[in-house]
Amino acid sequence: MKALVLSGGAGTRLRPITHTSAKQLVPVANKAVLFYGLESIAEAGITEVGVIVGDTAAEIQEAVGDGSKFGLEITYIPQERPLGLAHAVLIARDWLGDDDFVMYLGDNFIVGGISALVEEFRTHRPDAQILLTKVADPRAFGVAELDALGQVVGLEEKPENPKSDFALVGVYLFTPLIHEAVRAIRPSWRGELEITHAIQHLIDSRADVRCTVIKGYWKDTGNVVDMLEVNRTVLEGQDRRIDGEVDEGSEIIGRVVVEEGARVVNSRIVGPVVIGAGTVVQDSYVGPFTSVAENCRITDSELEFSIVLRDSSILGVGRIESSLIGRHVEVTPAPSVPSAHRLVLGDHSKVQIHT
Ligand code: G1P
Repeated sequence: MKALVLSGGAGTRLRPITHTSAKQLVPVANKAVLFYGLESIAEAGITEVGVIVGDTAAEIQEAVGDGSKFGLEITYIPQERPLGLAHAVLIARDWLGDDDFVMYLGDNFIVGGISALVEEFRTHRPDAQILLTKVADPRAFGVAELDALGQVVGLEEKPENPKSDFALVGVYLFTPLIHEAVRAIRPSWRGELEITHAIQHLIDSRADVRCTVIKGYWKDTGNVVDMLEVNRTVLEGQDRRIDGEVDEGSEIIGRVVVEEGARVVNSRIVGPVVIGAGTVVQDSYVGPFTSVAENCRITDSELEFSIVLRDSSILGVGRIESSLIGRHVEVTPAPSVPSAHRLVLGDHSKVQIHT
């Protein structure tokens, strides 16, 4: 069995954090979403991985390399334009050969990995197996219609009036039968060859398409609340590890990771928290469910239930909560007169000011 990981895409649903970076590299607990996917593929016993790349190929290849750090053998397959998920299967045809494969969308996060699913697929070997999860607003997803027995009877891509609240999760298990289906379909209104339509084609040809409903699913839809929540879930599962320097004036409580090269000076850290390499936390408090990435400076401040991406500084600003702070950001006090906020905010930024 092989894995086809999709890491292209134009990233049109931008939000501040992905303006300048591939959506698959958005960090959760200081690790790219894509890395969790690759790790779960390795865990499921799959080693041969094809990674579909697009405009952000260089960034993805730099981050992932040849796959050896994940125990994988990676082949990069360039997709000239984002022409759809079924198009990705089409261009990977030669590489996939006649193997079964798991198709994994690199911007999807599955809590608990995919080992059990892959095992289930290997045991029953239906023609295809899809994953579904309940979401609040299914209109941003492929949506499945189920019959009374829980069998999928129809799939629609981003319907205006969804027939259920079961969204298609971006992990699909296929036998080579899918190759006929991707050749049979036509582009959708958005000009893409939709995998949803290819699976519908399988259903219409009476193929055995099974579905599994999962919990613990996340995808970057630009929603900060969701991102803080997935960050919290992942941090909750981490073990304590202090590889960086912690001075005597500091107190570290609970499941805290201080990466090598990080420094904690005269501060209090209450886990679960991760502090990235090269980051310095000084005279500050960092509270539960916070991820601070590499090379940040947190000085004379309090931070809780937040994500700070790399190379950012938070200096002398009191308490920050429930926040997502991007890369190379500076948060500092304004001069005392005039009494005003001074903001330099990028496109799509959101600021809530305590008045
Ligand atoms: C794709 C699929 C959609 C699925 C989603 C999951 O959407 O077309 O059916 O629900 O991935 O991430 P896209 O990300 O291309 O909008």
